[in-house]
Amino acid sequence: KKIIAIVPAAGMGERARMNTAPAAGAHGAVAAVELAAGVGAPEALPKQYRLLKGEPMLRWAVKALLADPRIEQVRVAVAAHDGWVARALVGLPRTVWRFCGGPSRAATVTAALIDAQLQADDWVLVHDAARPGLPPEALGRLIDACLQHGTGGLLAQPVADTVKQSMGQSGTVAAVTATVPRDALWLAQTPQMFPAGRLIQALQAAEESGITMTDEAQALERIGYHPCLIPGSVRNFKVTWPEDFELMEKWL
Ligand code: CTP
Ligand code: MG
Repeated sequence: KKIIAIVPAAGMGERARMNTAPAAGAHGAVAAVELAAGVGAPEALPKQYRLLKGEPMLRWAVKALLADPRIEQVRVAVAAHDGWVARALVGLPRTVWRFCGGPSRAATVTAALIDAQLQADDWVLVHDAARPGLPPEALGRLIDACLQHGTGGLLAQPVADTVKQSMGQSGTVAAVTATVPRDALWLAQTPQMFPAGRLIQALQAAEESGITMTDEAQALERIGYHPCLIPGSVRNFKVTWPEDFELMEKWL
């Protein structure tokens, strides 16, 4: 059985662009470097191609996966119109890219999985391009645990803050309806690692149901599996908001 990794990198990074003036603050410096390198106008650049310590975020994420020799190949899935990937990944061993991005993260992953033509019992790790800080120890822990347990699993971080529930969507001023006990709660990270056949089956079932999935594990849970939670790392957070670039640069 081989082990491969898929990196969905076909997103637009809309939240990372919010309230960001290209010439202002810490991002000004990053934007200026990108322009000097001829990568493109920063406001048009999806977050996975923004430079962190001189290298595109996607390149950091792929290199983090390549650090484990058990991963035979990294397959990066980008949007059909992507003009940056070849430059971002130049010279990396065991790495290929495909222009098979879909309208959602799940669609991108499904397309990349089908394109990879794997055996049902090959292992697949799915890792966000937006998590360049994945430490090698955490990656090793995930692979060790999954090979041992067989079901598959994901890196996750125990919740540190007190958790509040409100009515409706979070993110605006709202009244508390409950405090949710946090001792059994985890925040899901990536990589998430599953047998290829099971993952495709789960993603296709999810797609037919029309439910929006924000990670692979959720699709497997829906059809009755209990993926294994493996302690991840605070460094493995997802670069999502404008402030996250500066913070991630400190960790890299
Ligand atoms: N992704 C993808 N295809 C999509 C949407 C997202 O491959 N249609 C990828 C992103 O490139 C990213 C990962 O999924 O590596 C996690 O998604 P997220 O952090 O939400 O990135 P974006 O969708 O790009 O950001 P936003 O939601 O803020 O627009
Ligand atoms: Mg998104």
